[in-house]
Amino acid sequence: MVYDLVVLGAGAAGLMASASLPGKKVLVLERNPRPGAKIAISGGGRCNLTNQNLSPDDYLGERAFVEAVLRRFDNDALLAWLRRRGLEPVLRKENQWFCPESAKELVDVLLGACAHAEFAYDTEILGVRKEGDRFFIETSRGEFSAPKVLVATGGLSYASVGATGIGFAIAEDFGHALVPPRPALVGLTLQPAEAWMKALAGLSLPVAIRVGRREIEGDLLFAHKGVSGPAVLDASLWWNRGKLTVDFLPGVRLARLFKNPKKSAMSQIPLPRRFVRAFFEALKLPNVPYHAMDEVQKQRLSLLKSYAFAPAGTFGYARAEVTKGGVNTAEIDPATMQSRLVKGLFFAGEVVDVTGGLGGYNFQWAFSSAVVAAKGCEGAAAL
Ligand code: FDA
Repeated sequence: MVYDLVVLGAGAAGLMASASLPGKKVLVLERNPRPGAKIAISGGGRCNLTNQNLSPDDYLGERAFVEAVLRRFDNDALLAWLRRRGLEPVLRKENQWFCPESAKELVDVLLGACAHAEFAYDTEILGVRKEGDRFFIETSRGEFSAPKVLVATGGLSYASVGATGIGFAIAEDFGHALVPPRPALVGLTLQPAEAWMKALAGLSLPVAIRVGRREIEGDLLFAHKGVSGPAVLDASLWWNRGKLTVDFLPGVRLARLFKNPKKSAMSQIPLPRRFVRAFFEALKLPNVPYHAMDEVQKQRLSLLKSYAFAPAGTFGYARAEVTKGGVNTAEIDPATMQSRLVKGLFFAGEVVDVTGGLGGYNFQWAFSSAVVAAKGCEGAAAL
């Protein structure tokens, strides 16, 4: 069989790119026995497929590059594309668009639009080489060839549903530079100084986390291994090493709390007793009225508003929703997603050095970059 394009990976990006090339001879290679494994488990089984508020600021990556790609296929274009195919996404949590019932609905719509494409499942991609104008894809089921290849194999997160580092290896084999991949949208482990937080496992609090110049509001969940929850996951995108600062009382002025001079400071803090006790113990604060504390103690108590600590690391790829880093965008044309180094080689999705925060931004990126890549493939010669 002669193919126009081989798509590597039947995830969000690979499916959308294939769906966007009707009438072309497209082969999709996938190691899983079925497509869209991550879509199926995402968003609590309902897939948060995009966000009402979409901006390049929601992404870690080269701003101009992200903007150029999103402009070509944004959240409105995605919603319209889905509605034309009978899927009516539902707005939840203020600005997040989800599948109405189940993530399977999205997989079905994507697959339905891929009727022209051929799928080879249970097929592990091992490597790609180029000879003359053709690419040869080596797999566990033999070799396939085409004049164009789209790398849509995702990142390293959640190997349990198919992730491998093959996309990064292929990019490097073709001379592309990688921004070092790291786990992101992931819980953070703690240094011994923060061991007190581990005793709070299971407790969740609304907090504001400062990381670099960003401030992220949301819930922090204390976990056995460290800290997690939406605010921490989002913070992990912007954190590499060094300190984060947590405000455990966002919107509350500390000075206004201790109005009753007779009551202990502890009893006037509007946070769960379990947390307040652990915090006082960790910071060696006495259970006395605020006014009875000395200046050093008051200073330590004020850390409730600005507790700075350096996480030890992350919970790792097995628990990370995404992989940040990836193929350097300086070497990809944002108008086509084609490699600037190798003609006929295209990239889309998480394999590229663009990573969004929580809220549907990563699927939007996968879909936007895939549509741009499909158009790029179509526009390029010989398809
Ligand atoms: P994706 O990982 O989807 O697809 C890559 C495909 O390539 C996979 O099917 C894989 O099996 C295949 N592959 C890899 N190596 C291969 C090899 N060697 N041979 C053959 N095939 C190979 N995002 C969001 O916007 N909203 C959300 O609600 C969520 N929720 C969420 C929950 C969980 C638990 C996770 C792990 C992730 C999310 N995400 C998310 C992130 C989102 O799933 C992710 O960003 C996209 O799936 C990326 O799409 P890609 O197509 O780039 O990679």
